[in-house]
Amino acid sequence: MTKHIGILTAGGDSPGLNAAIRGVGKAAQGHYGMQMIGFRDGFRGLVDNRMTRFDSNMLSGILTKGGTILGTSRDKPHRMLIGGKKQDMTDVIVENYEANHLDALVCLGGGGTQKNALQLMEKGLNVITLPKTIDNDVAMTDTTFGFDTALGIATEAIDRLHSTAHSHHRIIVVEIMGHRAGWLALGSGIAGGADVILLPEIPYDINQVAEAIRERGRSGRNFSIVAVAEGALSQEQARIIRAAEEKKANSEDKKELKRAKKELADLAASHANRTVQLSRQLEELTGLESRVTILGYLQRGGTPSAADRLLATRLGTACADLIHQGTFGVMVAARGETAVPVPLEQVAGNKKLVPKDHPWVVSARHVGTNFGD
Ligand code: F6P
Repeated sequence: MTKHIGILTAGGDSPGLNAAIRGVGKAAQGHYGMQMIGFRDGFRGLVDNRMTRFDSNMLSGILTKGGTILGTSRDKPHRMLIGGKKQDMTDVIVENYEANHLDALVCLGGGGTQKNALQLMEKGLNVITLPKTIDNDVAMTDTTFGFDTALGIATEAIDRLHSTAHSHHRIIVVEIMGHRAGWLALGSGIAGGADVILLPEIPYDINQVAEAIRERGRSGRNFSIVAVAEGALSQEQARIIRAAEEKKANSEDKKELKRAKKELADLAASHANRTVQLSRQLEELTGLESRVTILGYLQRGGTPSAADRLLATRLGTACADLIHQGTFGVMVAARGETAVPVPLEQVAGNKKLVPKDHPWVVSARHVGTNFGD
């Protein structure tokens, strides 16, 4: 009996998604003789039953392409905006899964997608996922595809910012993606030789940062590069967020809960202002001119690196192997040179954050990088 599989990409796009679709599809169709259909725009396409049948032509020429040929969205199956109202659409998804006679559903995504996939698994679907995100914060996998490409882009940006910072004797604060996890700022900050690296996981004291910059000036280096993750917080801001989170967790009153949620959403939305504020504070405290560069979506766009193409192909083909064996309810994780199935329960809801004593942090400190703590 020919197996039928569905595939979708969800969450923010990431280089390597097409390489992964190709890896799953070529192995599933070419090697195992399965049939694959792709759903458009993440879980929304599964609800609307908007799909495309993959033939071998569609899988050719996409290895090097950025973005996702299927389109993506941040829609969640259990809270989807339909006619202006958030609705639970999981039953519709189950119906469409059955109507398409699917034997498995492959979901390519980051942390949110892993949670959504677990919910669909609990509804009885044969779900299997792959870990993608430039943030590298999916639990239980060594790494995620997209990260290496973004690391290269952010590192090149820091390299380029060095010469202009040096020429103008300026501070350049470069904002790098990563709301909760600072892997990208840390990795590119080290590879690009940033003088200061600020991460969500290590709240900073602005005076420590300013002193590190002044110290560079005293030793004749009157420019500095500050690599800041978009979710980096001062120690004071971290205290305010912790208090709002506690309020949210403990409030029994609906209105108070709403207020706490709004407070948290506003704090999260203010990250660009935070970076500008940080730059101004550094100007005041050091007497040097400071400029801000926000790398933004440049970090997610364009062709995947060789390492991401390789990783996405390895995980994609391993995914087809697992479907062939009948292993479901798992994420295909990278573990050294191998790809291993990890139960979705162990992945969903867990974020891989940068441990304060991670070897990269230790190494950076040993070359004199300041973390503002
Ligand atoms: O892909 C992850 C990520 O890049 C985060 O680092 C970033 O904060 C977020 O996505 C923003 O994406 P969007 O604007 O598409 O929600």
